[in-house]
Amino acid sequence: MGMVAASLLSADFGKLQQEIEMLNQSENDWVHVDVMDGKFVPNISFGQPVIKHIKKHALQPLDVHLMIEDPDRYFEDFKKCGADILSVHYEACRHLHRSLSAIKDLGMRPAVALNPHTPVILLQDILPLCDMVLLMSVNPGFGGQKFIENTYGKIRLLKQMIDERGLQTLIEIDGGVNTENSHLLYQAGADVLVAGSAVFSSPNPKETIHELKK
Ligand code: DX5
Ligand code: ZN
Repeated sequence: MGMVAASLLSADFGKLQQEIEMLNQSENDWVHVDVMDGKFVPNISFGQPVIKHIKKHALQPLDVHLMIEDPDRYFEDFKKCGADILSVHYEACRHLHRSLSAIKDLGMRPAVALNPHTPVILLQDILPLCDMVLLMSVNPGFGGQKFIENTYGKIRLLKQMIDERGLQTLIEIDGGVNTENSHLLYQAGADVLVAGSAVFSSPNPKETIHELKK
């Protein structure tokens, strides 16, 4: 069984509590929370005040994906509003070693996210500090986009790098995940699959989550 992190970006924000309660009753593992600043990505989503309320209802850990410039400014805020796993983008951090150490020191699990164009080999010196690597399989910013096939090769190479070093780093895939490609992704070495539109556009979200974990 793989792990699933349902992405609230595709949820109905007008009934967020109900959507979270649905996840609570499902086999979903983590609640994926996408924070966008309109600068690092061409879209704005939501921030700390909303996450604080998500945390009140969610029984599963919050997997917070920061698609923002200079994310270090807000690490303490995200800890306070309930982030358990905090992902920062490689492309948004000038001092990634410092950023990951700061996230860990605050008691959250540090993760690095890579855009589709960023090679996994760039992580060779930072991998021991990553609890997880999030590979973007679409260009970040929007839900419901088409999966980029080149991701499979990146997963296999990253998995090899992790195994060679005897690390426990998790691999998370984000973007265009559905029940058609999920088993191929686990087969390539993925541990956690983020699913937004696949879950929230489904007529039976709980069943879709169950299918995605197989
Ligand atoms: C996109 C976000 C994703 C998004 C995925 O920038 O990082 O988490 O919600 O949506 P789907 O699963 O619909 O591709
Ligand atoms: Zn995401």
